[in-house]
Amino acid sequence: MDDVGARLQGLEEEALARLAAAGAVAEIDALEREVLGSASAIAQARRGLRGLPDAERREAGRAINEIAGRLAERLVSRRADLATAEEAGRLAGDRLDITLPGRAPARGAAHLVMQVLEEVTDIFVALGYTVADGPEAETSYYHFDALNTPPAHPARLESDTLYVEHGPDPEGVLLRAQTSPVQVRYMEQHPPPVYLVSPGRVFRRDTMDATHTPVFHQIEGLAVDTDVTFADLKGTLAHFARVFFGPAQQVRFLPHFFPFTEPSAEMHTTCFACRGSGCRVCGGSGWIELLGCGVVDPAVFEAVGYDPNTVSGFAFGVGIDRLAQIRHGVPELRYFFDPDLRVLEQFR
Ligand code: DAH
Repeated sequence: MDDVGARLQGLEEEALARLAAAGAVAEIDALEREVLGSASAIAQARRGLRGLPDAERREAGRAINEIAGRLAERLVSRRADLATAEEAGRLAGDRLDITLPGRAPARGAAHLVMQVLEEVTDIFVALGYTVADGPEAETSYYHFDALNTPPAHPARLESDTLYVEHGPDPEGVLLRAQTSPVQVRYMEQHPPPVYLVSPGRVFRRDTMDATHTPVFHQIEGLAVDTDVTFADLKGTLAHFARVFFGPAQQVRFLPHFFPFTEPSAEMHTTCFACRGSGCRVCGGSGWIELLGCGVVDPAVFEAVGYDPNTVSGFAFGVGIDRLAQIRHGVPELRYFFDPDLRVLEQFR
């Protein structure tokens, strides 16, 4: 037993030295398995007790238990110390340095076209107009028939209109090329009087160039009441031009044709760039075409169940992208739709 006792004592000293040198909880765990586990010298010594006479076994057993007890105690306390130190280290490493400057998120802004769309809408809202929406995929009925557009009208040609495959009629559904069908949808749902604007996206089979894009935006306007005349149209739209471009703005109306208005007109305004003397922006005429408008055709009122003998009205449609282009002197309409932030950031 002296042999075993001496061996175990040496083992204890060695284990205590290694315990003192250990720097991490993981090392303590490994050491514990090594000195107290089932393959350890202590476990072996315990197994060896079996063959000893009673008195010797009792004494040796006590010696082994004392050593094992001391080691277990030291392992526990050293593990606790190291765990505390490791935790402190982790906390120190995790500390948030609130003196570091933050990373500011990039500030966004509405697209210029959307800003102008809202601005124009607001001008009419201030006059008492309501805002309504309509679908971008529209039926031929609302887009053409109810707007007094005859079956053979060139606007219906597939070369101009983007038809959508839906239902049995190949020309039954289309991507709207104008916001005018909202007039019909709104009047079907509301009795007169009507003071309506409807901003939205429209689609045309146009090739992209300086002043055309296949997707653009319009605001539709409609005023229906008793005794509405062309003079009301002129006053309202001149007011709009002066609020949008400035008080010195002049407007003129040129005869035009639209199926859903009679008479129909194009409104021009003095070129904002040259104030009417003629320049590159206006092509030398001093005038810029702003919108289409006219007095609502009685056929449209009939289509929605209004009595053309008791109500009258005017309507207009403004291209928003062109308005933004004109006022800000943007040379190419396509800049609005290119993903180049350098263009858009100028209009925050
Ligand atoms: N819808 C026409 C277009 O896209 C614009 C227009 C003209 C709308 C006259 C109207 C109007 O409401 O009365 O070219």
